[in-house]
Amino acid sequence: HTEAAVAMAMAFFLLAAAASAAVAGASWSPRPEGDLVTGLPGQPEVGFKHYAGYVDVGTGGDKALFYWFFEAEQEPEKKPLMLWLNGAVNLLFLEAPVGVGFSYTNKTADLGRLGDRVTAQDSYTFLLNWLAKFPEFKGRDFYIAGESYAGHYVPQLADLIYEGNKAAGRGSIINLKGFMIGNAVLNDETDQLGMVEYAWSHAIISDELHSAVTRECDSFKEEADGGRPGKGCSSAVRAFMGAFDDIDIYSIYTPTCLSPSAGSASAAPRSSRLVTAPRLFSQHEAWHMMRRAPAGYDPCTEAYVTRYFNRQDVQRALHANRTGLKYPYSPCSAVISKWNDSPATVLPVLKKLMAAGLRVWVYSGDTDGRVPVTSTRYSVNAMKLRARARSGWRAWFYRQQVAGWAVEYEEGLTLVTVRGAGHQVPLFAPDRSLAMLYHFLRGQPLPAAAPR
Ligand SMILES: *[C@@H]1O[C@H](CO)[C@@H](O)[C@H](O)[C@H]1NC(C)=O
Ligand SMILES: *[C@@H]1O[C@H](CO)[C@@H](O)[C@H](O)[C@H]1NC(C)=O
Repeated sequence: HTEAAVAMAMAFFLLAAAASAAVAGASWSPRPEGDLVTGLPGQPEVGFKHYAGYVDVGTGGDKALFYWFFEAEQEPEKKPLMLWLNGAVNLLFLEAPVGVGFSYTNKTADLGRLGDRVTAQDSYTFLLNWLAKFPEFKGRDFYIAGESYAGHYVPQLADLIYEGNKAAGRGSIINLKGFMIGNAVLNDETDQLGMVEYAWSHAIISDELHSAVTRECDSFKEEADGGRPGKGCSSAVRAFMGAFDDIDIYSIYTPTCLSPSAGSASAAPRSSRLVTAPRLFSQHEAWHMMRRAPAGYDPCTEAYVTRYFNRQDVQRALHANRTGLKYPYSPCSAVISKWNDSPATVLPVLKKLMAAGLRVWVYSGDTDGRVPVTSTRYSVNAMKLRARARSGWRAWFYRQQVAGWAVEYEEGLTLVTVRGAGHQVPLFAPDRSLAMLYHFLRGQPLPAAAPR
C-alpha cells in the first residue's frame, strides 16, 4: 500500500488545483475506455478517472510514448490541460523520449539518434495523436511543465507547438498559454558557475577548491565566448563532484537512503545521468559514478517507486510494457547511451516565446545542489530582463509563512523560489507547489504578504 501511495503521490499532489481557471465548455466526447485504469494494486478510493497507455509516434506501433492522464476531480470538461514532462487541471504525464520508462522503440537504431530535436518532435507527434484520442481537449487552454533537463524539453516543445500552430488549420491549433520549469537546465555557462557558487556558499567545498575550479575552468565560459579552461579543470571538477559523495546533491539537507530493504535503487546503472549533467561535468567518468538518485522527503522514495512499477500486476493495470521490454523499469533510463544534440543555452527560445505572449514561470527549490537557485538566478539574469518596478524581489507567502521569494519581469517571466525544497519541488513541498500552480494557471501574482 505504501508503495502505491508513494508512486501515486507523485501524480496526485496537483489534482486539487482543479479549482483553477475555467474555460468555456468544449463538447464532451467518449474516452478511449481501453486505457481507463481500473484495479491498480494498492490504489486508494479516488474521485476521478485516470487513463494510461501508449500513443504511437511511429508506424504500426513500432515506436510509442507512454502516458498517464489524470482527469480533474471536478468539472474536468471546464478545466485546462497541463502536460507534465519527466514526470489543477487535467494532468497528463508523459515518459519521453523512447527508452525512458515504458516508452519504447522496436528499432534499436532509434536509441542512437536521440537528442533534444528527436525528443521535441516525438513529444509533439505524441500530443497531436493524444488529442485525437481525447478530442474534447482540442482547443482547451493548454500548459506544459517540467523539471531539471525539462528546462530544455519544455521550451523546445513549446516552440514546436508555436510554430506548428502557424501552419495548422483553425481546428487543429493547440491552445498553448504558457509553461513552468523548475530547477531547470537553461544555460550551461551560468548553470555550472552557479553550481560551484552554491556548493561554496553552503559550506560543501573549501575556499581552495572553489578558487581552483573557477580559475582552472575559466568560470565555465563557453570557448566560443573566449573561455580558456586550463589543464587543471578536469581534476578540479572531479574533486568538486567528490564533495557530494556522501550527501544527496538533489536535496542537500535531507538524509540519504540507507535502508537495504528499500532495495538499492542506487545500484542501477547511472550512465544516462549525463542527460541532466551540464556538458563539462558529464565528460567525467566520476559523474556517472555518482550513484545518488534524486530522492524526496523520504529518501527511499525512488526505491519504492522502482519496485512498484516493476510489478507485473501494476504494469498490467497501467497497460504498460505491451511489447515485453528486455530491460526493467528504471527511474533513470539505462538504455539511452548517446545524446546527439543539446544546445548550450535555451535562453533565446525563452525570449522568443515570452515575446510571443506565453506565460513563463521559472521556479527553484532552494536546497537543490544540482541545478541550484544560484544557477537559475545567474541564467535568468543573463537575459537582462526588466523587473517590474512595483514588485521587485520579494517574499511570497503560504499560510502566513514565507514560502519563498519571487520577482516578476516586464517581459512576461516570473521567477519563484520555494524555500527549503529540493530538486523535484512538488515532492518536497506539495502544498506550496499547488499554491504556486494555482496562481500560475490563473496568471495571478503570488501572495505578497501574510494574510492578517
Ligand atoms: C515490436 O516488438 C514487439 C516485441 O518484440 C513485437 O511484439 C511487436 O509486434 C513489434 N511491433 C512492430 C510494429 O514491429
Ligand atoms: C517488461 O516486461 C518484462 C516481462 O514480460 C520484464 O522482464 C521487463 O522487466 C519489463 N520491462 C519494463 C521496462 O517494465
